[in-house]
Amino acid sequence: MKLFSLLSLVVSPLFIAVNARQNIRDAPSTTLDIQDGQTGVLMVFPPAQTFTGTKHVPDADHPFIAPGPNDMRGPCPGMNTLANHGYISRNGITTFEEIILGAGEAFNIDPKMASGMAAMNILTRGNPFVNKVSIGGVSPLVPPLPGQIDGPVTQGIAKHGRVEGDASLTRSDVHIGDNRNFNQTLWDQDLEQLAALGDDGPDGPATVFNLQTLVAMARSNLETDQVLDPEFAIPFRRLNLVYGAPSLVLGQVFFLNTDSNATDTDFVPSVFANGTTQQSTKRIMTSFFMNQTFPENWHRAAVPVLGSPIPAEAMAALPEWVPGHNDENGVFVADPKPPAPFNISQSCGNYWDVLVNAVPASLANVTGIFKQNVDLLTGILFNASGCAEPIAPAGPTNV
Ligand SMILES: *[C@@H]1O[C@H](CO)[C@@H](O)[C@H](O)[C@H]1NC(C)=O
Ligand SMILES: *[C@@H]1O[C@H](CO)[C@@H](O)[C@H](O)[C@H]1NC(C)=O
Ligand SMILES: *[C@@H]1O[C@H](CO)[C@@H](O)[C@H](O)[C@H]1NC(C)=O
Ligand SMILES: *[C@@H]1O[C@H](CO)[C@@H](O)[C@H](O)[C@H]1NC(C)=O
Ligand SMILES: *[C@@H]1O[C@H](CO)[C@@H](O)[C@H](O)[C@H]1NC(C)=O
Ligand SMILES: *[C@@H]1O[C@H](CO)[C@@H](O)[C@H](O)[C@H]1NC(C)=O
Ligand SMILES: *[C@@H]1O[C@H](CO)[C@@H](O)[C@H](O)[C@H]1NC(C)=O
Repeated sequence: MKLFSLLSLVVSPLFIAVNARQNIRDAPSTTLDIQDGQTGVLMVFPPAQTFTGTKHVPDADHPFIAPGPNDMRGPCPGMNTLANHGYISRNGITTFEEIILGAGEAFNIDPKMASGMAAMNILTRGNPFVNKVSIGGVSPLVPPLPGQIDGPVTQGIAKHGRVEGDASLTRSDVHIGDNRNFNQTLWDQDLEQLAALGDDGPDGPATVFNLQTLVAMARSNLETDQVLDPEFAIPFRRLNLVYGAPSLVLGQVFFLNTDSNATDTDFVPSVFANGTTQQSTKRIMTSFFMNQTFPENWHRAAVPVLGSPIPAEAMAALPEWVPGHNDENGVFVADPKPPAPFNISQSCGNYWDVLVNAVPASLANVTGIFKQNVDLLTGILFNASGCAEPIAPAGPTNV
């Protein structure tokens, strides 16, 4: 996810059920496990935060330090911001526990959502045996999977295809340009929508994001990239992130009550909004997207960030877009729909796509601590999916 591979981040636990089941694993074994010269590291849920209200972020222990030449950074501004402030390792090589702790401390992301993000990133682009993932590209600190069962290197979340995808707000499609670093041209185009549709705020007229603005930005990026990118592709999991992006930005929304035509307001915390005002402004989003740092005088969400009705609203506002890709003639064609029984909901369909197309099939057949970690991560995705039955990893390897 380009917006959040932090939320790539932002990864798809955006449709997480608010009543997701408890993430508790049966007593894990701690036996020493060496496979292909690597030592397995068992993943364990870290202790929950004791304070889950708003507060000023960053604190004095987490100053901005620009990344050095060997530090990994990637397409997800949220992850990059966490690393730039040391909420996860500044070298950009992170772990299951670090993502949950760092995303919780800095963004007040609920452990259920943070563990879903960690699971998605580590299963698709990390090494779940040694519990490491790069938030950017290939790193010597993240070895290939034991036995090289997913090819000779472990990629990071910047590698296109499994998590990273097209129609990002601030990164180019990989087949158009640089899919990893902030693109000012794209952001300027997004800001034209804000200037036209945004709300007024403390920083001036049309400086505050609303759903209409974010939907218009998504529509514009989808339309533009479909034409410009011959290999444009928005599989289920990618479109889910495009729909989910507004929920990372908006702190409070008006949404349509599904039983009637009455509009109703509900409070929904978000990742990037200022926790004291629930507003996301041009200044705030530019700081995260471009400078990959917390805005001055920013406060994290006032309650833990978990589920949101916004993805469904964004989807409803973009009915012309379904999961699909360009064919060899540049014509957009729909992807196959999730088969029954995985077609019962968006979140279940997303889980189906992730397990069948993005998690390598070779992970279905591992042993020891490797298997315990894979079972933990796939269990987290399943529990958040709302599906009636789990799916074994079945995606292509070495892609
Ligand atoms: C998933 O939910 C089940 C049932 O509540 C629970 O036993 C299991 O520990 C959960 N798995 C994970 C990985 O959280
Ligand atoms: C930035 O985006 C513009 C507009 O799509 C594109 O023309 C340009 O090649 C991109 N730049 C990079 C470095 O990717
Ligand atoms: C909602 O609005 C639509 C279109 O105006 C109308 O056809 C429908 O009857 C309304 N539904 C309710 C429950 O008021
Ligand atoms: C981004 O960083 C530049 C250079 O430090 C600074 O001039 C600018 O004000 C920052 N912008 C935002 C929105 O944080
Ligand atoms: C967040 O809201 C507080 C209270 O209104 C305000 O003082 C602060 O400047 C805001 N921060 C940002 C980054 O907008
Ligand atoms: C799921 O797919 C089955 C088989 O094609 C179909 O009968 C059913 O109506 C679908 N369910 C939903 C909710 O779309
Ligand atoms: C799983 O491992 C067994 C034993 O090594 C092997 O026979 C089988 O082909 C493997 N299956 C997959 C899907 O890799």
